Amino acid sequence: MSTKPLILGIESSCDDTSLAIIKGHQILANVVSNQKVHAEFGGVVPELASRAHQQNIVPAFEVALKRSGIKKEELNAIAYTRGPGLMGSLLVGSSFAKGLSISLGIPLIEVHHMKAHILAHMIDDNESTPNFPFICLTVSGGHTQLIVVKSPTDMEIVGETIDDAAGEAFDKAAKMMGLPYPGGPLIDKLAKEGKIGTHPFNVGTMDGYNFSFSGFKTSVLYYLRDQIEKDPNFIEKNKEDLCASIQDSILGALFKKLEKLVEETGIKDVAIAGGVSANSELRARLAAKREEGWNTHIPKFEYCTDNAAMIAMAGFFSYEAEKYGELAAAPQARMPF
Ligand code: KG4
Ligand code: ZN
Repeated sequence: MSTKPLILGIESSCDDTSLAIIKGHQILANVVSNQKVHAEFGGVVPELASRAHQQNIVPAFEVALKRSGIKKEELNAIAYTRGPGLMGSLLVGSSFAKGLSISLGIPLIEVHHMKAHILAHMIDDNESTPNFPFICLTVSGGHTQLIVVKSPTDMEIVGETIDDAAGEAFDKAAKMMGLPYPGGPLIDKLAKEGKIGTHPFNVGTMDGYNFSFSGFKTSVLYYLRDQIEKDPNFIEKNKEDLCASIQDSILGALFKKLEKLVEETGIKDVAIAGGVSANSELRARLAAKREEGWNTHIPKFEYCTDNAAMIAMAGFFSYEAEKYGELAAAPQARMPF
């Protein structure tokens, strides 16, 4: 029998139902079931998300077992996202995890969703693995954080957004342009055909390592409103250039703080994580920093947006430390880091 533990990861914090199986640091299966129902509403509808998780979770588990070629009785532990996230969505994953833990008689492991995004870097099929300590810019739909990662279990937030997250800034700007949810990937795609600097958008500057994107949102809103008054087809005619400028403004604000942190700490291992780290321009700009001596780490595309592979990976470190969860632990919509 292998000495490497087999851990099931369960992720259901937002609108992706995902189940993955990891053996040590190696992913055997990572099944992600995306929910399409939200696109027409311009954002995630919590009640619909919860219902879709209930429909998807059992089939996703069965597919994960089939793909990995293991039987559920071979699993050593079950890691699940305890928070942060939508309560109704978290409840589906946590209830399933607890039921399975009781029926199989194996330990339950609680995972913090944002820490798992970072630990996705430790999965063995990424292009590179960061050395500790490293800096991680975690950018998702709900969070924007600058973190110094000292070990898999010792992470410190040194800066974060005081209002909207970077992903939210992408999605809200896209919504104002009439693009469907989630707008981030669409802005990424359209920006490739556009020129930067043609439209002025401001991201407010904050002291220290914090971010603020609420003023940016307002600047996009007012700019579009004023231009549409002059030309009702303004957005359609300038779609690509607008996307390029929106993307450039958001990435510019992120890099300003990231560069400052690298300079002030002297830490050269730099990683990105979270849904927005799937952004092609962000990936390219980070990779270009290698020329300045940064040791950059860009996660495999499938480990950027929400996935259970990262939950299973985080679970592995807790399993090694024999840090188990409790059946009585309720999900936490706002879980302390
Ligand atoms: O981490 P994630 O999948 O879910 C949360 O935990 O929030 O992040 C989702 C966010 C959304 O705001 C989505 O628009 C953004 O990640 N995103 C992108 C791209 N792919 C996903 N933003 C910009 N460019 C992309 N290619
Ligand atoms: Zn996430």
